[in-house]
Amino acid sequence: MTGTMAGTMKGKFITVEGTEGVGKTTNIQRIAGWLDERGITYISTREPGGTALGEKIRDLLLDKGNISMVASAELLLMFAARAQHLEEKIIPALAAGTWVLCDRFTDATYAYQGFGRGLNLEHIKGLEALVQGDLHPDFTLILDIDPALGMSRVRARGELDRFESEELAFFDRVRAGYRERVNGNPSRYCLVDASAPLAIVQAHIVGALNTFVGEG
Ligand code: TMP
Repeated sequence: MTGTMAGTMKGKFITVEGTEGVGKTTNIQRIAGWLDERGITYISTREPGGTALGEKIRDLLLDKGNISMVASAELLLMFAARAQHLEEKIIPALAAGTWVLCDRFTDATYAYQGFGRGLNLEHIKGLEALVQGDLHPDFTLILDIDPALGMSRVRARGELDRFESEELAFFDRVRAGYRERVNGNPSRYCLVDASAPLAIVQAHIVGALNTFVGEG
């Protein structure tokens, strides 16, 4: 189904990434505002999750009680949720000309399961091809922050989930993974220093979006 569909998509696929406590929610709201200002029809969704089945898988993934979950099970659950999300929500929207604004996607799998957990990147590539075919985001915002700063914000929010309970070194590897993704394909990514004042971060994001649609 996903095999050679990317060329026929009429909507644009925007994803937002970063380590914990980087300010994704606030900046997703800014992107939503930018879409609204332009009268662009879009849906806002998230991974893992976005569908009824995907949200159940998300609960399994974030549940701190699942301490025995092995890295390969974690990887497969991410892609199981993604397969459902693509077929049920993302592909129909893009095909209809609706833009998709998604809080995390496969870059997170490379960063967290690949660089964070140390799983083989070629295996991730294989699953990506199986589940997505040639469908990839058109624009990916990566919010970059020192994980120590991000985690101090997350701890202030309250109880930690299974990922948030990881040690700092895990998030240092995840951050390095995101940076490596940017180096491999700079044109798709916008890497922003999320430790800067919010107005500067958001000006950078809006500038990059304007360039993306040819208005920059
Ligand atoms: P969130 O807290 O940003 O909503 O994301 C839930 C967690 O899931 C977050 O800690 C990152 C993690 N995650 C992965 O490890 N791999 C993935 O592919 C995705 C989409 C999320």
